Formats: sequence, C-alpha cells, structure tokens
Amino acid sequence: MPETVKRHLSELDLTGRSFLTIHDYSPAEVVSLLDLAVALKDAQKRRAAHAVLEGRAVAMIFMKTSTRTRMSFEVGIEQLGAQPMFLNANDIQLRVGETIKDTANVMSRYVDAIMIRTFAQQDVEDLARYGQIPVINGLTDTHHPCQGMADAMTIREHVGKLDGARLVYIGDGNNVAHSLAEVGAKTGMQVVICTPEDYKPDAAIVARAQEDAQATGGTVELTSDVAAVEGADVIYTDTFTSMGQEAEHDVRVAALAAYQVNMDLVRRAGPQVKVMHCLPAHWGEEITEEVLYSPHSVVFDQAENRLHAQKAIMAAVIA
Ligand code: CP
Ligand code: NVA
Repeated sequence: MPETVKRHLSELDLTGRSFLTIHDYSPAEVVSLLDLAVALKDAQKRRAAHAVLEGRAVAMIFMKTSTRTRMSFEVGIEQLGAQPMFLNANDIQLRVGETIKDTANVMSRYVDAIMIRTFAQQDVEDLARYGQIPVINGLTDTHHPCQGMADAMTIREHVGKLDGARLVYIGDGNNVAHSLAEVGAKTGMQVVICTPEDYKPDAAIVARAQEDAQATGGTVELTSDVAAVEGADVIYTDTFTSMGQEAEHDVRVAALAAYQVNMDLVRRAGPQVKVMHCLPAHWGEEITEEVLYSPHSVVFDQAENRLHAQKAIMAAVIA
C-alpha cells in the first residue's frame, strides 16, 4: 500500500458518513478527499496495490441512465478490492413499490455502502437516514457531488490551484451547477453561474454556498451576461436538458441558445481558459464539437477523474 494513500486516509475521519452533498463536508475534509484522490490516482497509474476495501461490497442503484458514473464506480470498487453490484431500476423492487425504508434496511444487511442515482434528493436522504451504511449520491435532480469532487480535482490539476481560481459555469442552473457552487465555496474558488433569468440555480442552494464561501474567501455569484467568461480560468457547461426534462427539450434549447460554449466564447475568455463539461455532451446545443476537441478542453481528464475522486470517497466512508 503506498504511504501517501495510507497517510491521507489516516488524516480523514469520515467512516460511516454518507456523501449526499458537498455542503455537508468541511473545507478541510473536501481538500483531504482531493489529496487522497490524487494519491489513489498515482497508485493506480503505477499499478501499486491499494485494495483498501478488500472483502466489502458496494451496491449501485441506477434509476436513470449513465455511462461514466456506472463505469467509474464499478471499476473503482473492483480496484479497491470490493465487490460491485449493479442494480438497474428495472431489476429491483424499489421501482415497483417497495419503500425506501425497507430497501435501506435490507440492503444494509448485504453490502457495506450504496451508491444511488435517482430523481429526488429526498429519496437519497431517506435511504441514508433509514439504512445503517453510507449512501453516496451518484446524481439527483438537485446535486451531483461526485462530479463536483472530480471537477475540483481536475481544476487543481489544470489550473494549478483552487483557491482564487475563476470558474464560470454557463448554461442551465442545474444539479451540476449546484455541486460546482458548493465545491467552489468549500475550496475558495471564484464561481460565477451565468444563466438566463428563467434558468437560474436554486436560490437556497446558492445562498448556502455563499455562506460557506465566507469561510474560505471564495465567492459565488450569479449573472445573465456571458461577458463573465472574460479572463476565466475555466468555462464549464452541461446539457441544457437534464434527465427527466426531455419534454422541455426544444423550449430549453431555444431559451439557452445564446449560452452555447463555442469558439467565439472561448476566444472571448482568453488563451488561458480551460473548458470543462461533465458529459454527455450534445454537440451544437450547449457546446460545439470544435470546442470539445480543442486544446482548451480538459473534458476527458475530467471524466477520468470521476474514477479517482469516487475511490477516495468510498475509501474514506466505508468501514
Ligand atoms: N457525468 C456523468 O455523470 O455522466 P453519466 O451520466 O454518463 O454517468
Ligand atoms: N445535468 C445532467 C447531468 C448528467 C450527468 C442531468 O442531470 O441529466
């Protein structure tokens, strides 16, 4: 086991905690998790043994589709020496009426943690409340905290710092925007969320992040003016139509068209800017293919970091 992994793991005291939002974690805990993620990434690249969860099992419930989250969790669980268990919505009784409370109690008897991707944040909170094992939020309608952690790791790699880094999120004020505001607030970033008036992020989540930011010297601001990208270290976008909003697709694409991340916007930001996207991307809607494959883009490093960031979370919270 690499010394760095051991050391960072011993610095953290998170055993048994659920990972439901980034807001729930202190700035020091967020930074320590990122440090552990870097150590685990290094271990994996060197093929150094780091099976810190040998003999454990982790269930993954997916009530929505996924490529990255499913793959990175499944591979990450195996790399940590544990058994992954993929549970598609159609495979389990939860979908056809079994309660979250009963599901939580039963699953707690078989596995050591649950990762869940679903619609309502309340369902994830309930699963954690009723179960006896940590629950990890793999995306809800309001949060995507594992994504936020991988994003912070990627910004630290590519911008060289988090403290004072200027991140401009542009597009729909959605789950990904919320988790970015939260991780930015915990790590001293200058986060700007740039959306049309009707697509702003949730006011309560933003207010809470602004309060958190006071402890780190970070900022979280809202604007509708795309001029906000000028001088940004990072431009970040996400789909205009999140899972569950498919019926609104055409209205959203029209309303958000002026917020597309294309080469004109990237040039306006400046030569230093990195472009991020949690993926999946919709070419010609929120981003162009040209930007996605330009030298500014770090989206595939970002996707890779899901693996390392989530391994850190699992290693830290699973007993
Ligand atoms: N970014 C992300 O969560 O991707 P998936 O929907 O493919 O898991
Ligand atoms: N905002 C998107 C993120 C997908 C990873 C969604 O919720 O569908």
